Amino acid sequence: MKASLPSRPPALLAGNPRPAHPFPTWPIFDATDEQRVLRALRSGHWGKLSGPEVTEFEQRFAKLHGARFGVGVVNGSVSLRIALTAAGIQAEDEVVVPSYTFLASATAVVEANAIPVFADIDLETLNLCPRAFEAAITPRTRAVIVVHFAGLPADMDAILSIARKHRLIVIEDAAHAHAAVYKGQPVGAIGHLGSFSFQSSKNLNSGEGGIITTNDESLADACVSLHNCGRHKAGLWYEHYINAVNYRLGELQGALLNTQLDRLEAQTNLRDENGRYLAGRLAQLPGLHPQKRTADCTRHAYHLFTFRIDPQAFGLSRAVVLKALAAEGVGCGAGYPLPLYRQPLFLNKAFGPYLNKAADRLDYAKARNPNCEKICYEQGGWYVQSHLLGTKADMDVIADAFERIYEHRSSLRDWSAKQPSSPAA
Ligand SMILES: Cc1ncc(COP(=O)(O)O)c(C=O)c1O
Repeated sequence: MKASLPSRPPALLAGNPRPAHPFPTWPIFDATDEQRVLRALRSGHWGKLSGPEVTEFEQRFAKLHGARFGVGVVNGSVSLRIALTAAGIQAEDEVVVPSYTFLASATAVVEANAIPVFADIDLETLNLCPRAFEAAITPRTRAVIVVHFAGLPADMDAILSIARKHRLIVIEDAAHAHAAVYKGQPVGAIGHLGSFSFQSSKNLNSGEGGIITTNDESLADACVSLHNCGRHKAGLWYEHYINAVNYRLGELQGALLNTQLDRLEAQTNLRDENGRYLAGRLAQLPGLHPQKRTADCTRHAYHLFTFRIDPQAFGLSRAVVLKALAAEGVGCGAGYPLPLYRQPLFLNKAFGPYLNKAADRLDYAKARNPNCEKICYEQGGWYVQSHLLGTKADMDVIADAFERIYEHRSSLRDWSAKQPSSPAA
């Protein structure tokens, strides 16, 4: 905490909300993107079967992530589903998934006709807890989807060692973690397969898009076939060997990804630096816990800057803190509102045409992941990645707002108690 705390009362109490602080906007692009996309457009390759932009991007992206192979696809959900099928996951197989993640980490399993089994996260890192992962394993478990949550590499040594013991496939869901590095090794090819998203909010963005990464040639061949109508690399164009449709990444997106990729290294370093600085300042406040950076994290991708507020120690509920932050012009989100097993989709097992008769044996209503519930219902919060592309002064604006709120916590508690539908202080 700084020696002298800001003395002005919080904007929420003064009744004069401040304008939103001008953090960098997203996406970021300039003439180099325009020229590359225009070049691809004029080349006419997008009107042919395959083009050099996607091939170049797949190779560059894979290399950056320590992978021999990269297969570009339409999004980061299909990439997970293809990875599961390529790895031989079958109907009735179980796949362990953390309960605090975006829906797609689990629906990819349903779409592969297998069964997601949810395991709790670590309260401090928000990544899959290795002990919870091992406890979720049954004789039917075949794989784990490990999410590098918010861009922080998961505890891969522990997860790989458990997976080896139980002969499980490890799929890294790196949708948040482009260019993140674990113990000197980039994420994405530490397990058997990696999956990335290029959806509009992601740290590397082409509007929509995704990629599968791997070091295993036979898995790569399977992914190539699965994203290309079941064709075989040595077969004819109209020869189809397995049940699959067209999930190929387009040439114009490939062009955009190539210029966006030129910026990724510098942007990732900036986010990492700002994230560390902001976490350092926020950690000074009692009850405020930025996502814990583990010693194994060489580089955090900071797709999200996440934190948790312990209401007792901080002296205010999350709801009041978020309101007060918004009034200071530095509003942020509360994160995912529900553990995945509490989503109506899973409670009702509304799996549509997918077989999953085997899911009858699971009752998601009985699941209980206390850490995930604490984060969803009570304590979690996050800023999106573009905030961390600002300056150190921008980080100070956020940290000063938290300090001001903490300093005036008792008046904010009184204010909250007087509100008609008071968020518990
Ligand atoms: C952890 C995670 N996995 C997978 C996905 C799916 O990516 P896409 O939106 O490209 O399908 C997302 C998207 O937000 C995500 O956050």
